[in-house]
Amino acid sequence: MSGHRKTILVTGGAGYVGSHTIVMLLTERYKVVVVDNLSNSVKGNGSLPESLERVQTITKCDIKFYESSLEDKDTLRTVFSENKIDAVIHFAALKAVGESCILPLTYYRNNVGGSVNLLEVMKEFHVKKIVFSSSATVYGDPQDLPIKEDHPTGQGCTNPYGRSKFFVEEILKDLWKSDEDWGIISLRYFNPVGAHHSGLIGEDPLDIPNNLMPYIAQVAVGKREYVSVYGSDYSTPDGTGVRDYIHIEDLASGHISALEKLLGKEPTPKGFHGWRAYNLGTGKGHSVLEVIAAFEKASKKSIKYTLTERRTGDVPASYADATRARDELGWTAKKTLFDMCADMWRWQSKNPSGFHRESS
Ligand code: UFG
Repeated sequence: MSGHRKTILVTGGAGYVGSHTIVMLLTERYKVVVVDNLSNSVKGNGSLPESLERVQTITKCDIKFYESSLEDKDTLRTVFSENKIDAVIHFAALKAVGESCILPLTYYRNNVGGSVNLLEVMKEFHVKKIVFSSSATVYGDPQDLPIKEDHPTGQGCTNPYGRSKFFVEEILKDLWKSDEDWGIISLRYFNPVGAHHSGLIGEDPLDIPNNLMPYIAQVAVGKREYVSVYGSDYSTPDGTGVRDYIHIEDLASGHISALEKLLGKEPTPKGFHGWRAYNLGTGKGHSVLEVIAAFEKASKKSIKYTLTERRTGDVPASYADATRARDELGWTAKKTLFDMCADMWRWQSKNPSGFHRESS
């Protein structure tokens, strides 16, 4: 129990990473205030989105919720004046790589503009602690593997989504340079997958999934016929793409560790002032075919697949060097690929239509 009733504002808390992180925050006795515009979530029966109603069921704790976009600064001011916020975890962003190429301005307005609005209001209210939800996409095509945090960023980002994450990281660095009172931690996620072990919450793509694991899960549940494996001639052990898949509960716990560093913890209660990035990954890569095989084992279903062309913009392999997070945050990922598939399958089979109540 480390929260000591500190209050955390979670932007984008109704989403996949946000909702799992909130479970852990509440378990650790933090108070949670959420701002979310529900652009990627299903409404529940009451005032909360369905994902957060289920978080309340899991944790038996209350969440204070504001339905708002970060474009609405007046509502943000209301949130800060009605709650004594100690720190912010900032997830709210659009995240579809392909869509970002078609709607770059929408992505920059939401992801970059929304972040600037949030930071301005935080500054007005003298709240200067933030954990930013970044992505390994800022590294572009990796020059060396495993990827360390001092790998160049921004150079090989192939799409506006990736660049928006890079831009916000740069904005945060500049902010800290202008005022060293800020404590800023950027968490660079590798490939978050899986679901809460209860099977009550998980990833709920509103459209055809772009990502591998949700797609496999939909094939396993009979919603789609087969997985297209994008590329089988990469210079990887079996020719298919290699990624660092990380269980969503491990990823969520990385946020708690980052928050503890920011806010300070006995015997160093002063907290962190500065800008620092951490990779959140397992440090181990798995190929597409390995993931399919692990999912077959966990679900006891046979998963049809077909080998197809490479997907534009994909890199052959990407996996983290996660030693900085281990050494400085005391955090490591614990769950295996089998755990990720088993929990993903529990969520998918219990909720074939995600959070839509009618078929769950
Ligand atoms: N893949 C398939 N078939 C599919 C989907 C994916 O073979 O239907 C392959 C991809 O080619 C890749 C691997 O599975 O080799 C993983 O692909 P994902 O789309 O699941 O994940 P990415 O690594 O491409 O993307 C993730 C995040 C992005 C982020 C990126 C870089 O989803 O938001 O990592 O950090 F930008």
